[in-house]
Formats: sequence, C-alpha cells, structure tokens
Amino acid sequence: MYVINSTSLIQAAQRQDMAISFWKVITRAASKVAGGSSVSAEILSADMESPDCYFAAFQKHVHPTSMPGPHLDAMSRTAVQLIAAAFDKLQAKCSGPPAVVLDLFGWSKNEMYLAATGAVYGPQSPLDDPSFQQAYERFESGVVALLMGVFPNLVSPESVQAREQLVKALGQYFRSGGHNDPGASELVRRRFQHNSDSHIPPDDTARFEVGHLVAILNNTRPATFWLLFHMYSDPAVLDDIRHEVWKGVVTTSREEHRKYTLDLDHIKTSCPILLSTFHEVLRFHNVGVSGRIVTRDHLLDGRYLLKKGSTVIIPGPVQHSDATIWGPTVGVFNHKRFLKQEKRPSPAAFRGFGGGSTLCPGRHFATTEITAFAALMAVRFNVRPKGGGVWMAPTTKRAPKVAAVPRPDGDIEVEVRLSEGVGGVSHEWEIVFSGSDKSVEGSAEDAM
Ligand code: HEM
Repeated sequence: MYVINSTSLIQAAQRQDMAISFWKVITRAASKVAGGSSVSAEILSADMESPDCYFAAFQKHVHPTSMPGPHLDAMSRTAVQLIAAAFDKLQAKCSGPPAVVLDLFGWSKNEMYLAATGAVYGPQSPLDDPSFQQAYERFESGVVALLMGVFPNLVSPESVQAREQLVKALGQYFRSGGHNDPGASELVRRRFQHNSDSHIPPDDTARFEVGHLVAILNNTRPATFWLLFHMYSDPAVLDDIRHEVWKGVVTTSREEHRKYTLDLDHIKTSCPILLSTFHEVLRFHNVGVSGRIVTRDHLLDGRYLLKKGSTVIIPGPVQHSDATIWGPTVGVFNHKRFLKQEKRPSPAAFRGFGGGSTLCPGRHFATTEITAFAALMAVRFNVRPKGGGVWMAPTTKRAPKVAAVPRPDGDIEVEVRLSEGVGGVSHEWEIVFSGSDKSVEGSAEDAM
C-alpha cells in the first residue's frame, strides 16, 4: 500500500487515473457492498481503458445531469421546496410559547434524507416510507464491513438484510416506471438508461442504485449537521450568515400577515460567507481517504514505482491539517477562510469533494441543498441547546469510516424558536427560483 501525502504527488496521481484507478475500487464495491452479480462485474471490468467502457460512458451520459444546467436546476428546486415545506411544518409547531425540542442531527438528517431522495427519485420514490429510512440507516452502518469482509452474511447480516429490503423497493420502483415520472430527476433516468444500454441485469440496476443512495446521503447529512452546529454555536457566524441571507429577502408587509420571499439564486450567488462556512466544514471535519488500485506498474512522477495490484490511499485530513498550506490557524474553524484570498492554496489540497477526474459529480447539488437548508434555518429559526446550555461539539470516534464527513457519535437536544426577525407576526415564506443555472460550487474553486 502506498500513502500519498504530498500535494504535488496527489496531482500527479490524479493525472494517471487509468494506472491508479478509482473505477477498480467502485467495481469491487459494486459486488461486495451492493451485492452485484458476476455478470455485472464483468461488464464493469471490461476494457477499462476504452472511452466506451461502462465508467467512461457513465461519466459522459450521466454526470452532465448533475452539472449546472436545467436538469440540476430541476433537481435542486425539488430538494429546496421539500426543505422549505419541512420548515413550514416546524414553524407551525413553533407558534406556542414553549420552544420546540429536537435532536439536531436526528431531525436534520431525516429532513435531508426526504429532500434528497424526493428530489432524485421523484413523487413515486418508495424511500420516504419510514421502514426504508430505517433500512437505509442499517445498511449505511455496515458498508465498510461489507467492503472489507469475505462473507457479508456473517460480517454484517443486518446490513445485508437492510440492503435487500432497499433493493426490492428500488427494483419495484424501476419496474413500475417511477423514474419516468416527470417529477423524478434526469439523473436517475439516465442512470437507469445507462445500465440497460450496458446490459446490466435489472436486479443489479436496483443494487447499484443502493450504492448511489449512499453517495447521495452519507456526506450530505453530517455536513448539514456540522454547518448548523457551527452556525448556531458561534454568534459571529450566525450574524454574518443571517445578514447576507436577509439581504435577499423581500418582505411584503401587511399588519396582520407578512410574506417573505427569497430567491434561491440569492443563496447561490450572493452569500459568500455561507459558502465559505460550508467549505470550512468540509475542510475542518474531513476524515475522507481516497482509495485507488494500481492497474499496472507505474513510475509516479518519474520517481516512485507503484506495483500493479497494490493500493494507493490519499488521506484528506493530512492535506487539511497542513499549516504550510492553510497557515498557522489551520487547527481553528475559521468561517471566512474560503472567502477570496490573495494567496490561494493549491486546489489539490482541498479534498472536500475529492479531486481529478473523479471529483464528486454531486457537489453542485449537495452545495445547493445544504447551503439552502442552513440559509433558511438562519433567517427563520433560533436554535440553542436545551435549557440554555453551552454548545458542545459531539465526538466522531464511532462514525462509520465510509464518509468524508463523519456523523456525530451523539446528538444535541436543542430548543427551536422563531427568529426575532419573524417572531410574533403571522407570516409565510415563499422560495422562488429565478432559474439561473449558475453554480454555487464554482465559487469554491475560485476561492482556492
Ligand atoms: C457534502 C456532500 C458530499 C461530499 C462531501 C462528497 C464527497 C465526495 C468525494 C470526496 C468523492 C471522491 C471519492 C474519491 O475520489 O475517492 C465523491 C465522489 C462521488 N460523489 Fe460525492 N459527495 C457529496 C455529495 C454527493 C451527492 C449529493 C451525490 C449525488 C447526487 C454524490 C455523488 C458522487 C459520485 C457518483 C461519486 C463518484 C464519482 C465518480 O465515480 O467519478 N456526492 N464525493
């Protein structure tokens, strides 16, 4: 096994994505984690260097649906509408004097699960059924054991059982054409199409979808939690974010009823501190390790011989904790760190969304849904630990090692009230979408 910790060697490795392959890792996960058949394993492994191979064609046909444009816009809108609807329900509960008490992670991960799966799979999604939500949690907890283990039924029987429950539900969803509902995303339609064009057996298409579900949720939910944690636990962060979000809120004032309108575009394009806080969450909390398999003997950067069949790992935290890259405040959470700087660290040093040709294709969608969640929370609600206690960051020692952003070991019980800006007045919120396909993530790259 080789461990790459030098930023310039990471760049060199990323340029050699055939010799130092991520697709080999995914192929292994498709069979060990998703339980894919040997027929599919052959299709995935075939001719990986050809531009027509399964993965290259996937990148060409499926990834564009997650890049800035009408398909991403439609998916993001649905997610944000679902988030806003969840907040309307929370607001209704906040009408009385006692505060609403919630588990911050438990509640936010549930709302994010519903928003993200609703946006990807559409109105016919089977996944909002609570039994599937629970199945997903059990499956996610066992992913690493499945990836490492030889006998999945012995290593993680609960996880395998939960996976099979999800496979059945998603198989039924595809058979009944749920993905063709106009409210489903183009992302899921193209994934289905790509698998049928590649002759993947239908049962495996449902299995692979369970793998995609992990990609959609396993970082998004803890990242949302940590963003809320930093925003509400530090008054300076909350003030800064509220200030820039409020600038985009249009208030129609009538004494007995007030309406607030916020354009999603404002969050995407005019909230640099919120975006910087989100990127700092991805830097500060990152525990991600990119794994690669060496497919042929390769002399990395003309200097280091990597032997065929070995594993390469790139630990994100090493880059993210390097004071020569981030300066002497590297160990401190600085919500303004990613505002445009004169001297920019190398983009390869920021591993939040990975890098190179396998840079996370879901980054635009994730950034929009997570920052919209935090922005709407900031202007609508006050949140503090129950009983007025101090904010204590939960540990992450027990977090499953499958995510780049770890979930907290414990939860934080919080009291939620309407924010002063809106409290005491009957009011409603409307989120509008002026339809720009500008990317939020673009600013992340710019900041580097
Ligand atoms: C905060 C949220 C997210 C974070 C931090 C994150 C992080 C990452 C990272 C670090 C990788 C690269 C892994 C590696 O190179 O070893 C990756 C890959 C990937 N992510 Fe994300 N991700 C997030 C959300 C999403 C979402 C919402 C989706 C789907 C809608 C998604 C889909 C994927 C896919 C399909 C890949 C594999 C890329 C490929 O095969 O080329 N991710 N993600």
